[in-house]
Amino acid sequence: MLTPDDLPACVRLASDRKWPEEPAKWAFLLRVGTGFGLFDGDELVGTTIVTRFGEEHAAVSMVLVASSHGGRGLGRRLMEHALAFAGTPVVSLHATSYGKPLYEKLGFRSVGSVTAHVGAFDGTASGTSRPVSEADRAGVVAVDAEVFGADRSAMWDELFGFAAQVRVADDGFVATWVNGDVTMVGPVVAPSVGRAAELVADVAVGAVVRVDVRDAALGSWLAARGVVPRSTVDLMVRGALSGDRARLHAPVMQALG
Ligand SMILES: CC(C)(COP(=O)(O)OP(=O)(O)OC[C@H]1O[C@@H](n2cnc3c(N)ncnc32)[C@H](O)[C@@H]1OP(=O)(O)O)[C@@H](O)C(=O)NCCC(=O)NCCS
Repeated sequence: MLTPDDLPACVRLASDRKWPEEPAKWAFLLRVGTGFGLFDGDELVGTTIVTRFGEEHAAVSMVLVASSHGGRGLGRRLMEHALAFAGTPVVSLHATSYGKPLYEKLGFRSVGSVTAHVGAFDGTASGTSRPVSEADRAGVVAVDAEVFGADRSAMWDELFGFAAQVRVADDGFVATWVNGDVTMVGPVVAPSVGRAAELVADVAVGAVVRVDVRDAALGSWLAARGVVPRSTVDLMVRGALSGDRARLHAPVMQALG
């Protein structure tokens, strides 16, 4: 199992695969989930993190094998271990084109995609949300469960501390967290693309942001304000997703859905 002591090695492994160095994200994921490492002697050569949301749903993330050790079955071993540990009827992940063939062999199916949009947001705030208060928190967690389809209260216990901002409205909420130089926007929960855009505007104004969007209309709205498409990944699921997913306009982060 990976511990905070393994963080530097995790970040090195990510760099080896040309993934960005994201120590704060790794640390957060190891708090809300369980990390597994494969070692060759002392060298960390494979990772994955499993975050269980109750008994029903688990998210798998950070599936990485050192380029020096690729193509030898380590990726499959990591995934099989992750699935056995998760033990939930539903498992979801966001897959790059490298991971997709492996996940398909393990029974995952693509159910959609998200496109990371990145840039300096040059729109204006809508003023239709307010900072979350202590009294709002239980409501946010309840709506998140309704929308995501599983109780993520343990994750929220950490996320309220990790987030840079959480803003709420009567019909939704939005959070941000800091990843190096970029303000990551997510989750975004709203009844429509128009309302999602207004909530995003309230946290993105004046910042370099990344929003991972599912809906092309929200993507176009962002692109028109300087936040342009970069890369697309598949949302893959083993079992069936539930919840009112139409209201989930951006994940907390790809690692968590
Ligand atoms: C994705 C990754 C973890 C795979 O690790 P790996 O140890 O090389 O994978 P394995 O050797 O276990 O191979 C996995 C399976 O996928 C298959 N596979 C790999 N690429 C494939 C392709 N392009 N088409 C069809 N099958 C493919 C392999 O044949 C193997 O199948 P098998 O177990 O039935 O023999 C590794 O390439 C990696 O770290 N990539 C960069 C990071 C990344 O993108 N991770 C995925 C995040 S979603």
